[in-house]
Amino acid sequence: MLILKNKDLTDNDVTDFDIYQNRRKFMKNAAGVGIAAATGLPLIEANAKAVKSPYSTNEKLTDYEDITSYCNFYEFGTGKSDPANNAHTLVTSPWTVTVEGECEKPGKYNLEDLLKTVSIEERIYRFRCVEGWSMVIPWMGFPLADLIKRMKPTSKAKYVYFETLHDPKQMPGQKRAVLDWPYTEGLRMDEAMNPLTLLGTGIYGKDLLNQNGAPLRLVVPWKYGFKSIKSIVKIHFSETQPVNSWQKANKNEYGFFSNVNPQVSHPRWSQRKERRIGQFRKIKTQMFNGYEKQVAALYKGMDLKKHY
Ligand code: MTE
Repeated sequence: MLILKNKDLTDNDVTDFDIYQNRRKFMKNAAGVGIAAATGLPLIEANAKAVKSPYSTNEKLTDYEDITSYCNFYEFGTGKSDPANNAHTLVTSPWTVTVEGECEKPGKYNLEDLLKTVSIEERIYRFRCVEGWSMVIPWMGFPLADLIKRMKPTSKAKYVYFETLHDPKQMPGQKRAVLDWPYTEGLRMDEAMNPLTLLGTGIYGKDLLNQNGAPLRLVVPWKYGFKSIKSIVKIHFSETQPVNSWQKANKNEYGFFSNVNPQVSHPRWSQRKERRIGQFRKIKTQMFNGYEKQVAALYKGMDLKKHY
């Protein structure tokens, strides 16, 4: 976000889209419903057999190639193509997630074991970056709420925050002090428990690629993309509101809530419009990225201009 490169992408997502739609039809007919990681399938199969969700949009999908090559993942460089070029150094298996803080089930969890207890769904969400570009992404994943319930947060747990892996050997971008590593992000507990909030495990029926935050990332579709933290190794329940990486870097430009809001401009970018990657014409940005019905109640009584 410090550096914005305008890579011009072409409007050629038709082929991928058709193949994907056909595969989805095939999967639906062949597999029926309910097959997911909870059945003990390896993740790669669970992602491919993800169950459809009523929360999905039917808008035109962004091309797989664009989703996986136009990325923000500063641990691998600040250019849009750096993550795809450099993230092969990240080792995603085995992967441990540490759960700590205000909960009854803290511990170090092997990701494979955690995933045995969840059902993988397909969620097609709009994804809006604060830089002014957007995508429509068919995520595979499961509600964060499912994992939180299992960890039994105490009554003191008002917020939950997340950390990305911190290992400059695997993430060479961390050798530079671009951000205060590790990358951290947080949500208020009611935001974390909202059924839209997802822990992503895949895209287009395939396991997440490293550049998109493998093996586990957050997806919060009504907030600017930087809230959707990648390659999560820690989940912490806390009583106090955490400070996220971008707030630490520049509190005048980035806030804690960071809900998509076309009325509130970022100091460097108007948020009224956005450019869908793969399309030429800009479109109007929607309040809460179009998820107003599901999430507006969370912010009742708050001045959304102040609570950026
Ligand atoms: N998570 C980590 N750990 N590091 C990052 O640099 N970038 C954020 C977010 N999560 C980032 C991150 C930003 S600014 C955006 S827009 C999204 O990831 C981009 O996700 P994508 O590259 O999969 O589209």
